[in-house]
Amino acid sequence: MGVVQASAAVAATSFRTATEQDWEYVTRLGREVIEREAGRAVMDLLRSQKDVPAHGWQVSNYQHSLQAATRALHNGETEEYIVCCLLHDVTQDLNPYNHDKSAGDLLRYHVSDENHWIVANHQIFQLSFRDHSKFDKTACERFRGHPYFEAALRFCEFYDMNCFDGAYEHLPIETFEPMVHRVYEKGVREFHAKHPYPPAPR
Ligand SMILES: [Fe+2]
Ligand SMILES: [Fe+2]
Repeated sequence: MGVVQASAAVAATSFRTATEQDWEYVTRLGREVIEREAGRAVMDLLRSQKDVPAHGWQVSNYQHSLQAATRALHNGETEEYIVCCLLHDVTQDLNPYNHDKSAGDLLRYHVSDENHWIVANHQIFQLSFRDHSKFDKTACERFRGHPYFEAALRFCEFYDMNCFDGAYEHLPIETFEPMVHRVYEKGVREFHAKHPYPPAPR
């Protein structure tokens, strides 16, 4: 794992001048790099938040994320689930009011549909636990009956709303880094096996 190494470049200077061989070459190389570097960028993003201060809570978003992952690990959750706990708020600073969708998108091809949905909708579900606030605690009711409804509530109860304890001793980021790389690499390999050429972006 590390910085992407430079490779020989094709002669083409635009898509229109690229030959069939060029496309085969850059596509193959691109896939190799994506598999080799799987999980690196998202871990760099998380690591960059280490010194971002807390906003009134006892823990920063970075510490909150590690606390969530540590609780999941201690509770015997799957590696994929632990990774979801670790990364559920990784886009908080980039996209504060819609960060569940952004973080969910970063996990979409690497985790199950259920785990992706939990992360991608956790903002509305964790409102349920905001006692004594003016937030709408019933907002998630519009998802009542959804197959992942209870799982999303459980995630917020055990790995989100309770992870603001400044006295909790979370494990270091290094504990989780290999898990992220394994989960991301597996997801990427499965995606590549399924799609000889990636589908058009959504
Ligand atoms: Fe969040
Ligand atoms: Fe959170």
